[in-house]
Amino acid sequence: MNKLPSYKLGPDLTVCRILNGMWQVAGGHGYIDHEKAIEDMLRYHDSGFTTWDLADIYGPAEDLIGEFRRRLLELRGKEELDRIQALTKWVPQPGKITRSAVIENIQRSLNRMNVNSIDLLQFHWWDYNNPYYMDALKYLADLRDNGMIKNIGLTNFDTERVQIMMDSDLPIVSNQIQYSIIDRRPEVKMIPFCQKHNICLFAYGSLCGGLMSDRYFKREKPTAAQLDTLSLRKYHQIIEKWGGWNLFQELLSNLKTIAQKYKVSIANIATRFILDSPAVAGVIIGTRLGIVDHRAGNAQVFNFRLERSDLDAIDAVCKKSNNLFEIIGDCGDEYR
Ligand SMILES: NC(=O)c1ccc[n+]([C@@H]2O[C@H](COP(=O)([O-])OP(=O)(O)OC[C@H]3O[C@@H](n4cnc5c(N)ncnc54)[C@H](OP(=O)(O)O)[C@@H]3O)[C@@H](O)[C@H]2O)c1
Repeated sequence: MNKLPSYKLGPDLTVCRILNGMWQVAGGHGYIDHEKAIEDMLRYHDSGFTTWDLADIYGPAEDLIGEFRRRLLELRGKEELDRIQALTKWVPQPGKITRSAVIENIQRSLNRMNVNSIDLLQFHWWDYNNPYYMDALKYLADLRDNGMIKNIGLTNFDTERVQIMMDSDLPIVSNQIQYSIIDRRPEVKMIPFCQKHNICLFAYGSLCGGLMSDRYFKREKPTAAQLDTLSLRKYHQIIEKWGGWNLFQELLSNLKTIAQKYKVSIANIATRFILDSPAVAGVIIGTRLGIVDHRAGNAQVFNFRLERSDLDAIDAVCKKSNNLFEIIGDCGDEYR
């Protein structure tokens, strides 16, 4: 099996620096054939992409992990099975949270994923006005102590709330947030905070759903019909807020020049830029399993490093954009 660069979050969790994102199996990204998806998961694994990002709410994602684990054990044995990391999320509806409800939900994920313990449970909460998220985290910390969960992470929490959790001594190891060359909000508060408190970040949206790639370079602004996946629509809106399609083309042009220098792709430059940022453990790249395969292309990320002049060329365009921190707010505020 191929080995790719990894990041150690703690004694029992080391991840591949490019994670396979499974939101794309949840619907709105084309028809996912489960058998083809499992076959693709085996190929990703063999290529060294051993870390999966999923959620209880990503349609069949947890079940696919369960089936993939059974298949891997059968075909390649226990040693290969032990190389997988499956990071799921718990996304409850805001409301009173009881210990038994937490146990019930985590047990359901364990069963679906066919694991005894969850490598990283990333917690999401929709409404800060509803204070029960702190109760949920305390119960999750208990489940970490009894072994149902190995590590607790967050997703889409802002710096103010993570500070509250640190003040309560909650054992948080990571936060998963939107972070790309165009969405630099994490650099304002979250990254300095994470550096100080030894928390890692997982970035998503770093390829803007595929818009930040060679495929869209020198292309007219896509029509609504051409934005045919949920992620393309989501990140097209971010581009509009950031500065619009013409400025985005100017950025793609600079990224293309840099990509040509290293004989890689625009997507590689977009990923490398985020991977090199402080506190970032990994970039999650969405995978449309059984439909499109970008394994070989994405592995190129590990074959070059960006120079200061490349970063300056990128920032020269970004300086012309709107300030998304002022427009949207801190990390995760787009969900609230
Ligand atoms: N916590 C949260 O709230 C949250 C929110 C969003 C996403 N996520 C996580 O992050 C993952 C990433 O999803 P995302 O929506 O942010 O998408 P993304 O990673 O920005 O974009 C994924 C798309 O980029 C294209 N792509 C991938 N590699 C490429 C390459 N080398 N060259 C050209 N194009 C390439 C593919 O498009 P094609 O398939 O069309 O080729 C792929 O579907 C999700 O699956 C999920 O795990 C989490």
